[in-house]
Amino acid sequence: MTTTEHKPTAAGSGASATESFRRASAQGGAAGVEADRISTVARAVLEGVHAAIRTHQVTYPEFQAAKKWLIEVGEGGEWPLFLDVFVEHVVEEVAARTQQGTKGSILGPYYLPDQQRLPSAATLPMRPDEAGAPLVFAGQVCDTAGDPVAGAELDLWQADEQGYYSGFAPDIPDGNLRGVIVTDDQGRFEVTTVRPAPYQIPTDGPTGTLCVAAGWEPWRPAHLHLLVRAPGHRQITTQLYFQGGEWLDADIAGATKPELVLDPQQQADGRLRAEYDFVLEPAP
Ligand code: DHB
Ligand code: FE
Repeated sequence: MTTTEHKPTAAGSGASATESFRRASAQGGAAGVEADRISTVARAVLEGVHAAIRTHQVTYPEFQAAKKWLIEVGEGGEWPLFLDVFVEHVVEEVAARTQQGTKGSILGPYYLPDQQRLPSAATLPMRPDEAGAPLVFAGQVCDTAGDPVAGAELDLWQADEQGYYSGFAPDIPDGNLRGVIVTDDQGRFEVTTVRPAPYQIPTDGPTGTLCVAAGWEPWRPAHLHLLVRAPGHRQITTQLYFQGGEWLDADIAGATKPELVLDPQQQADGRLRAEYDFVLEPAP
């Protein structure tokens, strides 16, 4: 970043994440939920809250502090950030019970659809002076029978070397470090990018304030986000992490899995190269 650029704010990324979530759910990303499920699950959540109050003898001032904080989460547009950091990994864990093939991970709040389509060997859209260690990420998409899946789409998005996502931070061009790579007739891909930085929950908003107040480190390890899809196959939502990376064992979002860790090696040309093969199961 140059000094003329301004730093992202929690309110800025929160508002963008909320707007992006509303767009996605309007396009069918959020299903209607039946009344008896609402009753069952909402009651269980409330009972959990009641139990916490009794167990920990919560006082009126503490209750009012919680109310104030909840109002601020809403006003700051931080519900997508908060829920994806603290809750989504358990929803993913439940979904994973019926999932074969490559392990999944959380979607998070920063996915944007309709990015540039790229051939199997491609460079992610990036600024001419994009900071960060050059990284070649390559592999193959196969089905559960071991056959290559030609024409599979890897919808890839990542933070930059400062830990910021295009579309959610000022001064990063739209589509930066985002793209849809299409596998070749052997199901292979090779994408050139830069190694992302760890991600810090914005500390100037209510989610970050909670972390600081509670003494929780507001960090996620560096990661690549991926949706992997092909006709006739169940889409995978996942993330890939980096061996030895900071926060790998202390992800605030609890979304790492040992099967999802890349081990990049330095190539002769000085660039890092990481390989990962994906396995898609048949559509349910
Ligand atoms: C959040 C941000 C991420 O980049 C991610 O992968 C998951 C969650 C968040 O701030 O909620
Ligand atoms: Fe992320």
